[in-house]
Amino acid sequence: MSPSIVSAVYLLAGILFILGIKGLTKPKTAVRGNQLSALGMLIAVVVTLLDSSIVDFSFIIAGVLIGGIVGATMALKIQMTSMPQMVALLNGFGGGASLTIALAEYFSKVGADPSSFAQLVTPIAVESSAFGAGPEGTVALISIGLTVLIGAVTLTGSFVAFAKLQELMKKSYGLPGGPIGNALFLAAALVAVVLLVTNPGNSLAMLSIVALALLLGLFLVMPIGGADMPVVIALLNSYSGIAAALAGFILGNTVLIVAGSLVGTSGLILTQIMCVAMNRSLANVLFGKMAAGGETVDADEIYAGKVTSAQPDEIAMMLEVAKRVVIVPGYGMAMAQAQHAVRELADAMESRGTEVEYGIHPVAGRMPGHMNVLLAEAEVPYDKLVEMDRINPTFEDTDVVIIIGANDVTNPMARESEGSPIYGMPILNVDKAKNVVVIKRSLSPGFAGLPNPLFAMDHCLMVYGDGKKAVIDMTTALNQS
Ligand code: TAP
Repeated sequence: MSPSIVSAVYLLAGILFILGIKGLTKPKTAVRGNQLSALGMLIAVVVTLLDSSIVDFSFIIAGVLIGGIVGATMALKIQMTSMPQMVALLNGFGGGASLTIALAEYFSKVGADPSSFAQLVTPIAVESSAFGAGPEGTVALISIGLTVLIGAVTLTGSFVAFAKLQELMKKSYGLPGGPIGNALFLAAALVAVVLLVTNPGNSLAMLSIVALALLLGLFLVMPIGGADMPVVIALLNSYSGIAAALAGFILGNTVLIVAGSLVGTSGLILTQIMCVAMNRSLANVLFGKMAAGGETVDADEIYAGKVTSAQPDEIAMMLEVAKRVVIVPGYGMAMAQAQHAVRELADAMESRGTEVEYGIHPVAGRMPGHMNVLLAEAEVPYDKLVEMDRINPTFEDTDVVIIIGANDVTNPMARESEGSPIYGMPILNVDKAKNVVVIKRSLSPGFAGLPNPLFAMDHCLMVYGDGKKAVIDMTTALNQS
């Protein structure tokens, strides 16, 4: 195939990726954005296969079939609440793919047989020109070393993130030196990259990069707990993109460089957004520093004798006269799968002339956009989903806020208690509303493990029960009134 045709098709694929990402910025265009990106990737893969002189397509077809079946089964079976784990796994596979590309390229160029251990550990005389003439060879070697490093970190780091989110790994472990230990590991891996670039036949240096980077991935993510995990996932997503872009340099494949750079940069932007929304600094996350424990807070002291509960029909009476209601969904709405019931309650209120909006916190739930996806599934109009910055000033004019399964994202301690671990995290200022209704099963804490003084406020009513059932009961009572 003529190189200019290949370049033109790669350019088209790149444009489709960019249009796809642009589409993903709004719920309305997100599905089309996804389809455009997928189409771009399909075109890129087909042209690459037609262009490259690949002799045996049978392996590729077998890979596509096996990978396609495994991927489709996972995507169809996965629960909405387990989506972050799935993303973590996919990031890991992305890093692993770049790692294997770099290793395959390296061992084929040095002529060592990766299945022979003796050949792997015996340095052989190889000129950097084996990887390309002059500076090109050096660039290729640097790309190979860094792809292996970043790909391996992404692989093991993502698997740890998966294990943590799946609650397979409940404790936090780390290197004795903490961030310094990690920095030493990283420095050692970079030294091995330099050794490889100066002496390409030094396969021992290559094996050291692999081993150090695999361990570094484990040590970077193992100490990070709880509330930092979404930031870690976004960061690992970015790493997988950077590894893919570097793999593009190794293979001289422009579309891989473009796609990898887009994933790398968009992952970094998402990381930054998450950091701000969870009040974690990027440096803390990068160096695997554990979230500070802060002051221990006694739940009994906050709640004792101050919490008022109510029944769904009492809340329905309140909703009958409310002019403006804001619904604040959280992780519990996802757990209860209450999104359809919530929309029906909103419909019932709107049919009585009540203005209803939804207040969406950027980290409500367990993944970016979690609440938007669930409410879109229940066909809640997009313009009713109002971001935190826009909904916050409206709470003072809101008659009732209904919080369903949200906790941390409404906790005033983030605003007021300087010693608290969530101090500084932006929250939905629901306590400014005239009345607050909280639907949850108990006074148990949310993800951050903290009590919520909101529940003890005078204008707050707790409705205990499963989110879906409580909302259905409210709707029934409202419709009967
Ligand atoms: P959380 O603070 O985790 O609170 C969820 C509440 O839902 C719990 O207190 C629980 O109380 C209640 N709940 C659970 N099952 C329920 C059910 N079936 N019916 C009714 N209520 C139920 O949730 P949030 O306010 O959405 O905050 C999210 C937290 O997760 C933040 O700390 C955030 O940093 C963290 N996080 C976010 C992400 C992203 S990117 N979104 C990812 C990982 C972690 P009961 O047990 O009493 O019912």
